Amino acid sequence: MELTDLDNLVVAENQEISLEVSQIIKGDSRSAIEKLPDDFYSSCITSPPYWGKRDYGVNGQIGAENSLDNYIADLVDVFREIRSKLKDDGTLWLNLGDSYTSGNRKWRAPDKKNPARSMSYRPPTPEGLKPKDLVGVPWKVAFALQQDGWYLRSDIIWYKPNCQPESVRDRPTMSHEYIFLLSKSEKYYYDYESIKEASKLTGKKRNKRTVWSVNTEPFPDAHFATFPRNLIIPMIQASSREGDFILDPFFGSGTVGEVCSLFNREFHGIEINESYIEIAKKRIKSQLNGRFL
Ligand SMILES: C[S@@+](CC[C@H](N)C(=O)[O-])C[C@H]1O[C@@H](n2cnc3c(N)ncnc32)[C@H](O)[C@@H]1O
Repeated sequence: MELTDLDNLVVAENQEISLEVSQIIKGDSRSAIEKLPDDFYSSCITSPPYWGKRDYGVNGQIGAENSLDNYIADLVDVFREIRSKLKDDGTLWLNLGDSYTSGNRKWRAPDKKNPARSMSYRPPTPEGLKPKDLVGVPWKVAFALQQDGWYLRSDIIWYKPNCQPESVRDRPTMSHEYIFLLSKSEKYYYDYESIKEASKLTGKKRNKRTVWSVNTEPFPDAHFATFPRNLIIPMIQASSREGDFILDPFFGSGTVGEVCSLFNREFHGIEINESYIEIAKKRIKSQLNGRFL
């Protein structure tokens, strides 16, 4: 992306989208994805809103569905559309965290440190589950995607050494989330050499393992969970080449865009909330300015 293209960094979903340079698309991913080109993206790297965990304050937001089945169905629909937009050798890296049932509480009080944790709604306990049950959302979504035609290739544990403390005394503190690697076809582009890691035992380079220890990285302007850059660097390196396009349909503060710019990849990011688009725009502009000045 050239500095001169920065004026067109943000477009509305009904405007023409550039197939040459990176762009942020303002809109609802459910409708915006349809307008994107088929067989175009090397990879989709994304973290959809988790079910019933955050209120992003916008009509049409995913994650606010009253039933878990509707949430899963919405994600399956979005990712089915994305599959047609990926090249045949393309991949999807999907980050999801789990939830506990609300115990039929109807709201959650604001939290000074994390205002987005306050909720004006809480989804009811799904049928078959009890208060205090861990829902198992990530695996339910992964199996639904597998059923829908995706190849489920790997589950990766994102271990967060600096996880949020929890005031619980009847279970361990949750310090991980899941990342699923899924592919469109049986064979796909995966540059394992580019992400080899050093073995602590032998010091020799080896294939990257499935537990990734990455600290969360608070982003001062955003009141929600942003991707740490170190979490997505290996995804970008393993699943794309320089100049390739990467898609993030839940762009938030634009971490995927920032890291793409650092690694000479192009991106399309879709985001429904205008104030988050402003954050992403500012962030990517300063990244690109740094690169070109
Ligand atoms: C977990 S956050 C993504 C954070 C992002 N990975 C980052 O690093 O900043 C999920 C995002 O999805 C957005 N979102 C929710 N429903 C959406 C929809 N239907 N279409 C597009 N974006 C949506 C929310 O506004 C929120 O910014």
